[in-house]
Amino acid sequence: MNSLSIFNKNCVKIRLNHLRYYSKRRPELPKCDFNANNSKSRLGNFEIETIHKLNLNPCLKPWYQKPVLITQGYMQYVWDNENKRYLDMFGGVATTSVGHCHPKLVEATTKQLKKLWHTSSIYYNEEIHEYASNLANRLPEPLNNIFFCNSGSEANDIAILMARLYTKSYDIIALRNAYHGDSTSTQPLCGVQSWRFPLPLHFGIHHTTNPDPYSGRFGGSNCRDSIIQTTRQCDCEPGHCKAEDMYVEDLEQLFDSTLPKNVCAFIAESIQGVGGVVQFPKNFLKRAFEMVRQRNGVCIVDEVQTGFGRTGTHFWGFEGHGVIPDIVTMAKSIGNGFPLAAVATTASIAKTLTEASYFNTFGGNPLASCVGLNVLKIIDEENLQNNCHIIGSKLLTELENLRNKYPDIIGDVRGKGLMIGVELTSSAVSIQHKNIKERKPMIKADFDSILEDCRDMGLLIGRGGPKGNVFRVKPPMCINEEDITFTIDVLAKAFDLHNERSAKRRNKYL
Ligand SMILES: Cc1ncc(COP(=O)(O)O)c(C=O)c1O
Repeated sequence: MNSLSIFNKNCVKIRLNHLRYYSKRRPELPKCDFNANNSKSRLGNFEIETIHKLNLNPCLKPWYQKPVLITQGYMQYVWDNENKRYLDMFGGVATTSVGHCHPKLVEATTKQLKKLWHTSSIYYNEEIHEYASNLANRLPEPLNNIFFCNSGSEANDIAILMARLYTKSYDIIALRNAYHGDSTSTQPLCGVQSWRFPLPLHFGIHHTTNPDPYSGRFGGSNCRDSIIQTTRQCDCEPGHCKAEDMYVEDLEQLFDSTLPKNVCAFIAESIQGVGGVVQFPKNFLKRAFEMVRQRNGVCIVDEVQTGFGRTGTHFWGFEGHGVIPDIVTMAKSIGNGFPLAAVATTASIAKTLTEASYFNTFGGNPLASCVGLNVLKIIDEENLQNNCHIIGSKLLTELENLRNKYPDIIGDVRGKGLMIGVELTSSAVSIQHKNIKERKPMIKADFDSILEDCRDMGLLIGRGGPKGNVFRVKPPMCINEEDITFTIDVLAKAFDLHNERSAKRRNKYL
């Protein structure tokens, strides 16, 4: 039994989807001695629903049949209006990096709040200088010039502007399945259909084949820089990836057919986020960069989701690809939820912004800089990059075990550190064809039910991918082994419930 039923006043049986009942033991959340004494919302559920419908843009669509009203957070946990605790394995879309309301960050920011918030860049303030030098020190030479802004979209807007001014070319190559933001100049870079508006957006954007070793046309069993590979077979010699060659060939064809001799830029995430945590064949970025630079273009890496140690092995995702970009954009984890973003580049590319006046009211103001600087300090002091590596690798291994246990449900497990994707397949299709290699994406209704079950058991997890069938696991970087055990227990339980539902459906039609 996975849901309760009641009868309404007309004696019609209705299902209480958000009240699920589990016959077996529910996984238990790890102990947490934080007292969430502030979790009662000032507004009732009805008021929230009404205001949401009347006063907020309808594009703000909460997940879950009964949206979660989050009222308090502490480190990797959040509480809802009824004081129910959840493990936050999505971190507000890979954004809560050091932990919700991290005490050291709260203390430092409170001090700054009482001292100075805002000046604008027409005066000096010490905070932006200290922060810029600290951040620049974490980037490879010659990327020592920083421009601060407020969001990832804005950072990519600025990157594109600088690239066009610097190269005096216009054409930008992006990847299908990429996501770089929702401003008018980043929307056209997006390669995920559900994010495209039917408007004539920018000219000069060209999308190449997404080098996706799991769902793409080419891929095998040793393409990715991950401890987990796809279950696709291949006959590549060690150290050589044919899939990589094929994707590079596609890109070369794009250069040689529709693009002029000189291009402006190539932009990519070092691991695609919104697109479902897609990792490219190991040398793809390196070879793409070479081709772009041969055509006098610059290489932009979007580190909005992958930066700040999340991938575990490195501070920046691009380092795992063995490349140094010309421009790096960053947001999300940079501010642990505070609106802060940045563009790092070389002195000569940065200088292009002086060709006219360029101004950003809030970017890197004293308060934002204080937050950014203290996020960096905490990442160091608490060894969070290493935690991403150790805990992320354990989680990946456990998820691979789940893939072996539920081969009809999990098609792929991928990622690095705490940037993980779990792609779900449709058991209905695999049962029909008796062949899980078909790798049909799990249908939305089934995925939604699993997501709902996870939430009921106290696990918040992300979803993404072009078909919306990928779990995105990007928690605060402070999670521990107990959180992993809980996550795996919940997922296993949710998959069992899914199998029970599928079996019931099948029996109905027999
Ligand atoms: C890789 C990437 N780039 C850019 C953005 C845009 O960032 P923002 O929503 O802060 O504008 C996002 C947001 O999800 C992202 O994932």
